[in-house]
Amino acid sequence: MEKKKSLYSYIFTLTLFLTNMKMSCWRMLLFLLGYILYFYRFVDAEILQTFSDFEIEEQLKVVNKPATKIIKTIHGDSYDCVDFYKQPAFDHPLMKNHLFHYKMRRPSSLRTSRASNRKFGYLWKNGIGCPIGTVPIKKIAKDELLKLNLFSNSYNPRGSWNFTYNQYNVDNNQHHFAVSRTKKIIGKIYNGATMILSINDPKVKPLQYSSARMHVQIGDDFIQAGWTVNQKLYSDNKTRSYVYTKIGENQCYNSMCPAGIIMVSSDIALGLDLGPPCVRGSRTMVSSEFGLLKNKENGDWWLKLGGQEIGYWPAKKFKETSANNIEWGGEVYSAFLPSPQMRNDHFPETHIEYDAIIFNITIVDENFKSVERIKHREAFSDNTRGYKVYDDIYVELPIRNAIYYGGPGNI
Ligand SMILES: *[C@@H]1O[C@H](CO)[C@@H](O)[C@H](O)[C@H]1NC(C)=O
Ligand SMILES: *[C@@H]1O[C@H](CO)[C@@H](O)[C@H](O)[C@H]1NC(C)=O
Ligand SMILES: *[C@@H]1O[C@H](CO)[C@@H](O)[C@H](O)[C@H]1NC(C)=O
Repeated sequence: MEKKKSLYSYIFTLTLFLTNMKMSCWRMLLFLLGYILYFYRFVDAEILQTFSDFEIEEQLKVVNKPATKIIKTIHGDSYDCVDFYKQPAFDHPLMKNHLFHYKMRRPSSLRTSRASNRKFGYLWKNGIGCPIGTVPIKKIAKDELLKLNLFSNSYNPRGSWNFTYNQYNVDNNQHHFAVSRTKKIIGKIYNGATMILSINDPKVKPLQYSSARMHVQIGDDFIQAGWTVNQKLYSDNKTRSYVYTKIGENQCYNSMCPAGIIMVSSDIALGLDLGPPCVRGSRTMVSSEFGLLKNKENGDWWLKLGGQEIGYWPAKKFKETSANNIEWGGEVYSAFLPSPQMRNDHFPETHIEYDAIIFNITIVDENFKSVERIKHREAFSDNTRGYKVYDDIYVELPIRNAIYYGGPGNI
């Protein structure tokens, strides 16, 4: 669309130019026609190069599996109920003969006493969710997939470790971070991480995104989980849950590619509207609990949301068996200037009532012990003119290990 717009303005200026040159009408018309034909071929060729219609259709087949039923959330979003074994992640060559049953009991190391039997039927208009044996997955429209494919390399979520502080660097990477992260320690490994995340609603323009998430780096691969305001992904400006997976060359949101998560829950989905968000200065905080935890017995990675395991990534898809780094915090992608808000339009004030916070963060260490006091971590913002972060490991109960982050962006 943007290309067309610029094409029109091109033709307009060209017409003006030619008129000024007082060319004969015929010559001018021929010239213009040639120009338009040339330009259209050029534009078409470029789009074709990135993704042919065939490729898009193929990709849609991977992403959208046949639905046995369509259900709606209480907010009115439609979800497909997809047969457990028809999920995109089972298209992965390594997943042939993969043995897992959705009714299989979760590994004991992951079972929690609290809230383990919680049902999320109330999220759905039918009061139940999907039928047993199926999982709720959001259908992706063709134009949404096209939007996601465009600019994909620079747009893809990432960790902050490759970025350095540069206050004047406004458009180097278009990604900005305000995070707390583990310090790089050779040989240190992690088997999981958790956090409780406040729900906020940053202002974000189309093509930009603003996320609050946990990032678990597993060798060259990684998993992110949290919330994002991302119009390219969800076609609105609501705060919605997401995961992002990168394994080798394959990467995507939620279950949108073979590297993606395998959902196991019939009543909780990704992409759910987590709102209404926190109100600045209010005494109640809206928050959500996230965990990315490795199963001790078989090495699979699990996503825990609100106290329930809702999906996993089989161990065999990853090159490495454990994580080397973990970070918690905000990531924005600006696409163009000015950059979007992170959390809201204020810098953090280290006050629970005013801030976006991430708290009760824990890591699971090499012995599968949950660690509350994570001392070897550092706060990092690549550009403090737009985004800041404060790390408080000694904050008093009822919360522990708080990270105050965010900012107006505008850089
Ligand atoms: C850092 O950059 C290198 C080279 O571009 C890339 O291979 C690696 O995955 C990046 N690491 C992170 C944590 O993003
Ligand atoms: C989201 O979009 C709606 C409608 O376009 C608008 O009224 C609202 O202010 C937007 N909210 C944010 C936080 O950008
Ligand atoms: C946060 O952690 C503290 C200490 O472990 C605990 O007492 C508190 O209940 C936790 N808060 C939430 C909301 O889970």
